[in-house]
Amino acid sequence: MSSIAVLGCMWGDEAKAKIVDVLGECADLVVRFQGGSNAGHTIYLNEDKYVFHSIPSGILYPETVCVIASGVVVDVFDLIEEITELEKKGISFKDRLLIDSRAALVLPLHKELDTANEDKSGKNKIGTTKRGIGPAYSDDRARTGLRLNDLYHKDYLKNRLQNLYQYHNQAITPKELTTLLNKLITAGQRLSQYVCQTDTYIRRRYLEGDQILFEGAQGTLLDITYGTYPYVTSSNTIAGGIATGAGIPLRMVDKVIGVYKAYCTRVGDGPFPTELHGKIGDRIRIQGNEFGATTGRPRRCGWFDAVAARYSAEINGVDRLAVTLLDVLTGLEEVKICTAYWTGNQRSEDYPADAFSLAAVQPEYLTMKGWDKDITACRKYKQLPKNAKEYLEAVADLLAFPIEIISVGRERIQTILMN
Ligand code: IMP
Repeated sequence: MSSIAVLGCMWGDEAKAKIVDVLGECADLVVRFQGGSNAGHTIYLNEDKYVFHSIPSGILYPETVCVIASGVVVDVFDLIEEITELEKKGISFKDRLLIDSRAALVLPLHKELDTANEDKSGKNKIGTTKRGIGPAYSDDRARTGLRLNDLYHKDYLKNRLQNLYQYHNQAITPKELTTLLNKLITAGQRLSQYVCQTDTYIRRRYLEGDQILFEGAQGTLLDITYGTYPYVTSSNTIAGGIATGAGIPLRMVDKVIGVYKAYCTRVGDGPFPTELHGKIGDRIRIQGNEFGATTGRPRRCGWFDAVAARYSAEINGVDRLAVTLLDVLTGLEEVKICTAYWTGNQRSEDYPADAFSLAAVQPEYLTMKGWDKDITACRKYKQLPKNAKEYLEAVADLLAFPIEIISVGRERIQTILMN
């Protein structure tokens, strides 16, 4: 029996989906355990582009079963659209998708609240994806929310919907309520073939010896508790979130692969010590196509931050590293890695617990020579230019974990696997 967790270890968008796709070949089951349609996992396969928001990207392998576990918040309308679009591309969902009946629902009201909160917050906005994620998780915790299973109990659903609108002091006319109720019930019927108790299923398959891949969404530094609060998402993105989000014992996660970009990006607001504001940042953004898959927003770009990276590796119990988008750095005269933070005359190699302290730090950099050679055709480590290898070695040394996977391009085959 064995399972692997593939986790984004910075502020999201580390190209986790590509790593899930590479490892997915051996997986019987791919499980999403947190987040919702705020995620935008992009995979390029034979020139085709697939963007996944709620569906685990393992769906591209015809034999793999994909699970949306109870820790995920589900917008049934977005989900149906996603399924329909993928079906049009020839992907079959029959007996291949399971959704936990306890997953909390993201309702249109949650999107409205998310958008309204952001719009009225001015300078204090979080920079959310406006997908209703925060309000949906909040309602779940407040026990005012609705769950997928509620779609199969019409009177209860109606009552809960009315209560929810009252709780948020939002008006809904009887006609609007009936329309929403009917739409939700229809969506529930469309999804009913997939709805079950997924935790039991995952545990049994693990014990039967199947290969399970847990696919993280967002990134460690966006974790609701351990990220740069309040500039975070509303779920636990760290490895610990797998146990609660998928309903499995901690010991069923056998290996953790931490996914890092060869540089850093962040979307939304919040401190970002190594952010590059000038030409190099713009170049990385264009070269790396650093625009949000969900919102299209330009991502903020910066140098690799080994202080933040080590913190996330430790908190996740990372076993091996995957370094992605290395090819994006090709052509830069020099490349930098942040090795410590300075606050005034205080030097620290520790990542601070709060956003104020992080906003106050100045990075200390290790500057290394860049490389010019196009690396997108490299399939073996030894084929990489010397300077690129030295850069990777510096990253592995600073994090004190070995690199297992290097991605040098967006296609599945543009990958170097280390033994
Ligand atoms: P929310 O998850 O939409 O509430 O947004 C909260 C924060 O998480 C914002 O800074 C978003 O930009 C960020 N975020 C949410 N999903 C992703 C993602 O998939 N990649 C990167 N950042 C994300």
